[in-house]
Amino acid sequence: VRDAPILVLGADGYIGWPLSLALAARFPGREIVLADNFLRRRLVEEVGGQSIVPVPPIARRVAAAGEFLSISNLVHAEIDVASTELERLLAEVRPGVVFHLAHQASAPYSMRGAREAVLTLRNNEESNLRLLFALRDRHRDTHLVKLGSFGEYAKAGIDVAEGYFQPTFRGQAADRPVPYPREADDVYHVTKINDSAFIGMACRAWGLRVTDLMQSTIYGVRTAETARDPALGTRLDQDECFGTVVNRFVAQALVGHPLSVYGTGLQRTGLMYLRDAIDSLVELGDDVPAPGEHRVINHVAERGPCVLELAESVVAAAREIGVPAEIDRGTHDPRGEHLSQKPRHRVDAARLAGRATTPLAVALGELLADVAPHRDRVLSACVAPTIRWAP
Ligand SMILES: NC(=O)c1ccc[n+]([C@@H]2O[C@H](COP(=O)([O-])OP(=O)(O)OC[C@H]3O[C@@H](n4cnc5c(N)ncnc54)[C@H](O)[C@@H]3O)[C@@H](O)[C@H]2O)c1
Repeated sequence: VRDAPILVLGADGYIGWPLSLALAARFPGREIVLADNFLRRRLVEEVGGQSIVPVPPIARRVAAAGEFLSISNLVHAEIDVASTELERLLAEVRPGVVFHLAHQASAPYSMRGAREAVLTLRNNEESNLRLLFALRDRHRDTHLVKLGSFGEYAKAGIDVAEGYFQPTFRGQAADRPVPYPREADDVYHVTKINDSAFIGMACRAWGLRVTDLMQSTIYGVRTAETARDPALGTRLDQDECFGTVVNRFVAQALVGHPLSVYGTGLQRTGLMYLRDAIDSLVELGDDVPAPGEHRVINHVAERGPCVLELAESVVAAAREIGVPAEIDRGTHDPRGEHLSQKPRHRVDAARLAGRATTPLAVALGELLADVAPHRDRVLSACVAPTIRWAP
């Protein structure tokens, strides 16, 4: 397994590209196979957005990795992961590790209408199921590292366990760990919940080896590899579908648009800086769980802040570099976020314990510096939200 190729599904994406570069740099003797069908590029165009950081086509990216990092072990395959092409690619590559990131990854997009909801459902669940069955039939010892979402968990005023817990109900204690409750209010997160349920089934029934990451929101664009040349950059979206919370606040700050804090802003969100997430993922690939173990990891570094506090941190970091940012709280509330106080639950993250992570203020300073040169690519029509899915 340790010398076998590594397959990255969704390798042209925001996380997939820097992950692929980091894997190629760390394991020069292993082939890193990049699979993507460019769905993300198409959908961002469909909603009228564009990545603020320019993203060259994949062939140029691979060439740039050779030019600026002397990386020669990247191979690109244009395939639809939610199709029989996946089985063919797996048979050809025989990977030791598969990173599965190939999803329609936007919650707002999945709630635009029935067409977008069905696209999300088919794409995400079909790819996940095809992958699990292919592993069962031909690649049982391959380690699957699957990107799930921290947004899968039901937040109901109790501490959040790491995937499984052993509850007591009416005085009766469960006799084994069971999945911590999951609940979501958008189609994208429901697909993530279903993925976790199917993965749990596949581990118990077939003895697969899976690491399932409850991934919190990632922000930032700088890794050891992407920083080497603009042609190696990863995408940073600004529109309300594909721009995630901190990345979008930074874009808004740089063009003098008030930071759009939805509702009261007291809703909590976990966060992880891109570089920290990539470093952890690279290590996890070769840390293979036992057969049948559904290893769930809460992949979240900043566990405490609410959205309003994050916006305040972005404002402070922007002011440090002379950008006079301000916050607009409550004008927009697409998800109906009416919390009157910040939730107090704790979040277990034992598997990340002891890992050094980049402090929020340092990461925000880097992010502002990385995005500022591209501020003329921020589209003013994109920065105010319009999709609403809750009364
Ligand atoms: N970015 C975050 O903050 C975050 C947080 C939690 C979870 N995640 C998860 O991490 C993974 C990667 O997210 P991302 O932010 O890099 O998103 P992304 O959209 O940039 O990356 C996904 C990539 O997969 C590709 N893809 C989608 N469907 C495909 C298919 N059927 N066949 C081939 N390629 C396909 C897309 O074109 C894209 O390049 C996703 O599963 C996402 O749900 C991301």
